Amino acid sequence: MTALLDGFNRAHTYLRISVTDRCNLRCAYCMPAEGIVYREKKELLTFEEIERVAAIMVRLGVTKIRLTGGEPMVRRGIENLVKKLSRLDGLKTLAMTTNATLLSEQAGILKENGIKALNISLDTLKKERFLQVTRRDQFDQVWSGIQSALSQNFDELKLNVVVMAGFNDDEILPFVDFAFQNRINVRFIEFMPFKDNEWKIDKVVTYKEMIETIEKQYKLSALSADQSAVGKDFALFDGNGKKGLGTVSFITSMSDSFCSTCNRLRLTADGSVKSCLFYPAEVNLRDRMRAGAEDAEVEEMIRYSLSLKPEAHAPAEELSQSENRTMIEIGG
Ligand SMILES: C[S@@+](CC[C@H](N)C(=O)[O-])C[C@H]1O[C@@H](n2cnc3c(N)ncnc32)[C@H](O)[C@@H]1O
Repeated sequence: MTALLDGFNRAHTYLRISVTDRCNLRCAYCMPAEGIVYREKKELLTFEEIERVAAIMVRLGVTKIRLTGGEPMVRRGIENLVKKLSRLDGLKTLAMTTNATLLSEQAGILKENGIKALNISLDTLKKERFLQVTRRDQFDQVWSGIQSALSQNFDELKLNVVVMAGFNDDEILPFVDFAFQNRINVRFIEFMPFKDNEWKIDKVVTYKEMIETIEKQYKLSALSADQSAVGKDFALFDGNGKKGLGTVSFITSMSDSFCSTCNRLRLTADGSVKSCLFYPAEVNLRDRMRAGAEDAEVEEMIRYSLSLKPEAHAPAEELSQSENRTMIEIGG
């Protein structure tokens, strides 16, 4: 087996699988206000097809898989896919990213079936703002989903917060308080441009600006991370030197991109391999698989997708003009 190397010698060990392009929220920064045209069911990969691609990728060196979407928990039977994937020989971590609207009842079964790492997305601690950004009145459901996740002791539990100037940048400290009081990693994500997502450079709050805000109240102490980690991770100490239960991280795609150590590949819900989040090139596996392609041909197509991966993505303002798909269609 030759590792999944791209043209710049980066080995790919992390696969993000979007299981659906549907979502029960309508976050303005993720999808256009008028919505997207959802794929028909037959256009989506079946669970068997997802398992097949995942098994090929794990044979080629992938050790971590994240299920995402759209909202992965709206795909019926997702817990069965979790169980199947968790049994792949060689896979070390099975993870999921969810908006937690459906989590309160299901956190236990996800853990039992093999999810080790769970990322929950929440951009505000205020109910009215939640409605404003997601266009859905589901804050209470999300909050109880987070409480269930906290009680399940996942190996890793993270809270993703997309920080947008003038919207939620006044909530950075309340989110850090939450990290201080709970065993959770709060990850502040710099706002990224995608098709029709109301992105403007002046809505981006850089991680350096966030750190300045946090250091008014807390001391941050850098934690070492593995080479391909996308976050800059910190332990927290309050004014009395007491260490927080949780940690904070910054995902700095806009102000300090981490392309040189990128180890990620994406599989879209409609079966395309995408080797860079911000580069439009995709290689569709679904149609060839349905036409009877052998594993060797699927592998070759995956390697071809890797050969298209650019060394680094374009600067932020250029990205906002690019013909990429929306975030909800790509899978976050
Ligand atoms: C697209 S969502 C899909 C999974 C799931 N529905 C959820 O809400 O977590 C995955 C992640 O992408 C993040 N995201 C979406 N659009 C983004 C943007 N424009 N900039 C930064 N992060 C974004 C979301 O906040 C979320 O944490």
